[in-house]
Amino acid sequence: MQWDRAKVLVTGGAGFLGANLCLALAARGAKVTALDAFLFGGGANPANLDGSGVELVRADIREGDLRPIIEGVDVIFNLAAQTSHMGGQRDPLADINVNAVGQVRLIQAAREAAPNAVVVHASTRQFYGRPHYLPVDENHPVAPPDANGVSKFAGEQYWMIEHRTAGRPVVSLRLTNCYGPRLRIRDARQTFLGIWLRCVLENRPFEVWGGAQLRDMTYVDDVTEAFIRAAETPACYGNLYNLGGAPPASLLEIAEMTIRQGKAILGIEGSFTTREFPADRATIDIGSYHADDSAFRAATGWAPLVGLEDGIGRSLDWYRSRLPAYL
Ligand SMILES: NC(=O)c1ccc[n+]([C@@H]2O[C@H](COP(=O)([O-])OP(=O)(O)OC[C@H]3O[C@@H](n4cnc5c(N)ncnc54)[C@H](O)[C@@H]3O)[C@@H](O)[C@H]2O)c1
Repeated sequence: MQWDRAKVLVTGGAGFLGANLCLALAARGAKVTALDAFLFGGGANPANLDGSGVELVRADIREGDLRPIIEGVDVIFNLAAQTSHMGGQRDPLADINVNAVGQVRLIQAAREAAPNAVVVHASTRQFYGRPHYLPVDENHPVAPPDANGVSKFAGEQYWMIEHRTAGRPVVSLRLTNCYGPRLRIRDARQTFLGIWLRCVLENRPFEVWGGAQLRDMTYVDDVTEAFIRAAETPACYGNLYNLGGAPPASLLEIAEMTIRQGKAILGIEGSFTTREFPADRATIDIGSYHADDSAFRAATGWAPLVGLEDGIGRSLDWYRSRLPAYL
């Protein structure tokens, strides 16, 4: 893929992962359009694309004619989604409208407007449900624990059908928890780590729910690199892959790293308390998770480069001069 000649569309491009991807692609010389509806409660933030030169189109994949936005693109990085698990439980119809119906609308528009475009779809580990074994590989049974898991699985599968029936080059990446600059830190809607970072930056204690659960978090630059490699590697087309990150750490260990980095980067003596998982969340909690992503590593040579504690430190450093834009 010659990025300096490529025309690229990033759906969800004003959000956390989408904006980081837009910036990286623009830096490689690609002509990048970010499509985003600025869904309430999601990660979209105009500050995410500040000064990037990326064209931002405010549009909603649920409505209107999407063809003019897709026309002639070489690659679609498809990250637009309703990502809130509690939001999906409260309003499953709204959730499925974005994550499944909206995906079918995109597929239909792309068939006409960019029949040969490569698609890299942002999928999730969420729909494996509570793991039967660790690490979780791609053969692990799918058992979505919540409505959002169902809709994300449906959206992914519509894209894989498009590969099988229309021959479109499609890669789906099943992401684990991602973090880093441009994450929504106003609250805990994007990950628990978002609100932890905010609390440390504001010199307030944060809460750890449970604590023993394992997570293999991926720093955003590593996620971006994985998306780009997926698009660049024809051997990946037609496949879905787990994407993991740093070696698994428990929430308590991650909390301790966050405190250490708050001290090292900001000079703040942070603290946290632990509490039981709230009852309404415990029913959809997946417990411990870490990915077997050896298939993606073997196909692309990708490996995460940023360790967890380093990534937390980099995140705190990034936000400290930008906090007002993210509150
Ligand atoms: N961040 C993670 O840890 C993580 C983990 C697993 C999967 N994912 C997947 O990665 C993708 C990006 O996630 P993120 O963390 O950057 O979330 P995000 O909320 O920051 O980004 C999603 C973007 O999609 C936009 N969007 C939502 N509905 C839309 C619509 N109808 N039309 C146009 N745009 C719309 C939102 O406004 C938002 O900017 C999502 O598909 C998500 O399911 C993320």
